[in-house]
Amino acid sequence: MDLSIIINFSYIISAALFIFGLKMLSSPATARKGNTLSAIGMLLAIIAALVSQGIDYKWIALGMAAGGVIGFFAARLVAMTAMPEMVAIFNGFGGAASLLLAWFEYSGKYQGNDLAPVFTAIVLVLSIFIGGMTFSGSMIAWGKLSEKISGKPYLFSGQHIVNIIIIATALGLSVLFAMNPGEGNFYLLILIAVALVFGVMSVIPIGGADMPVVIALLNSYSGIAACAAGFVIHNNILIVAGALVGASGIILTNIMCKAMNRSLANVLFSGFGAVTVSGAGGQVDQGEVRPATAEDVYYILEAADSVAFVPGYGLAVAQAQHQVRELGEILEKNGTDVQYAIHPVAGRMPGHMNVLLAEANVPYDQLIEMDDINPNMETVDVVVVIGANDVVNPAALEDESSPIYGMPIIEVHRAKTVIVLKRSMSPGFAGIQNALFFNDNTRMFFGDAKASITGLIAEFKGS
Ligand code: TAP
Repeated sequence: MDLSIIINFSYIISAALFIFGLKMLSSPATARKGNTLSAIGMLLAIIAALVSQGIDYKWIALGMAAGGVIGFFAARLVAMTAMPEMVAIFNGFGGAASLLLAWFEYSGKYQGNDLAPVFTAIVLVLSIFIGGMTFSGSMIAWGKLSEKISGKPYLFSGQHIVNIIIIATALGLSVLFAMNPGEGNFYLLILIAVALVFGVMSVIPIGGADMPVVIALLNSYSGIAACAAGFVIHNNILIVAGALVGASGIILTNIMCKAMNRSLANVLFSGFGAVTVSGAGGQVDQGEVRPATAEDVYYILEAADSVAFVPGYGLAVAQAQHQVRELGEILEKNGTDVQYAIHPVAGRMPGHMNVLLAEANVPYDQLIEMDDINPNMETVDVVVVIGANDVVNPAALEDESSPIYGMPIIEVHRAKTVIVLKRSMSPGFAGIQNALFFNDNTRMFFGDAKASITGLIAEFKGS
């Protein structure tokens, strides 16, 4: 059989595996299988692409071995809380790879040849510009998330004008390149520099806490750059894979913005986090909170018929997921109905809570989405909030002056009793106080979540 038929057939299978894999990622029950399926698709795509090229495999094998070893250890060693940083780096490298691929293709095929087709010139500058800005933007996002650079939004007057000048320069360079493709390397080099500057300029005005949304967006950009690079080198699977990443990245960005009730423009341009909130919704005197000890909480839980855990970013910081599952099992043995209520933007990355709880083997059928638990909240005896803050802040429903007003929340304040596990009265991501903590039906169980839950388990075991 003709080799090109086998290669194209492999590409079709890879594309199908990517699509089914993506579909399976939408449920925690099938997500792992989906990941494996997509990885098999990628392996098949890589093998088919390499076979189709007739290249020197020695360097490819070396590159794959080095990349494979680095990737393996990076993935194994990374802490769950540092996952968004790792994704930022991956996106950046994806963008850089598209840039290099397109540039290399130009140098090898079109440089010195004035007959480069216009379409090729367009996709070439697209993959170089988008790839370059994705790389530098992702590096800034990584720096902000890992606190290597300040997470504060960096705003200066005339920022938008500078950005418009940068885009106009990029457009001008692209036109000059398309008009003179044979001698275009000079323009491409300046375009790369402009793209790198634009990536930095696009991300520095955004606060560190908004980086997860930025990363989803950069992920989409890296897909678009890859798709354009696929057109440059005439590789069908790169076009398909890039388009899938581009589309899913933008859908994810949209989901995250909706769950925070913010527009993408607000995330990108408002400098959220630049100003400390005060006054209504901010740090105001709301009276005294009611602290509780492990023993107090034990008695409350022991008597409860139904308990809903509401995990948040603090669960990831404390790495308390295994202890939470153990406590959940103890409660179930005690005859209590146990659920885990998941907010779509709890934590710092999409699906953060699902990933943590899946790691601890919490049964999927106990994971309840926000919209499904809210209507039944009054019937829940005890809600245990574990390191969540903004996603249970009633100010989002009641206080029009609050920066999170309009964000859907898990309405735990409507449950019969609320126990909040956190270390102090410090605010969460949005930097605002939470009136929930001062409610009559709320008890504050202060301490690191892992230590607090371990203490609770000890109370149950000692009883
Ligand atoms: P946050 O509002 O950030 O609150 C986390 C709380 O965890 C803090 O108040 C902190 O209080 C507590 N905490 C930290 N370490 C702890 C530990 N070791 N033990 C116990 N508690 C600990 O988290 P959330 O409720 O999950 O909300 C997420 C926020 O991130 C939302 O505002 C959301 O819009 C934003 N965001 C999320 C995403 C995604 S995709 N998830 C993306 C962008 C933005 P103490 O310091 O007092 O312990």
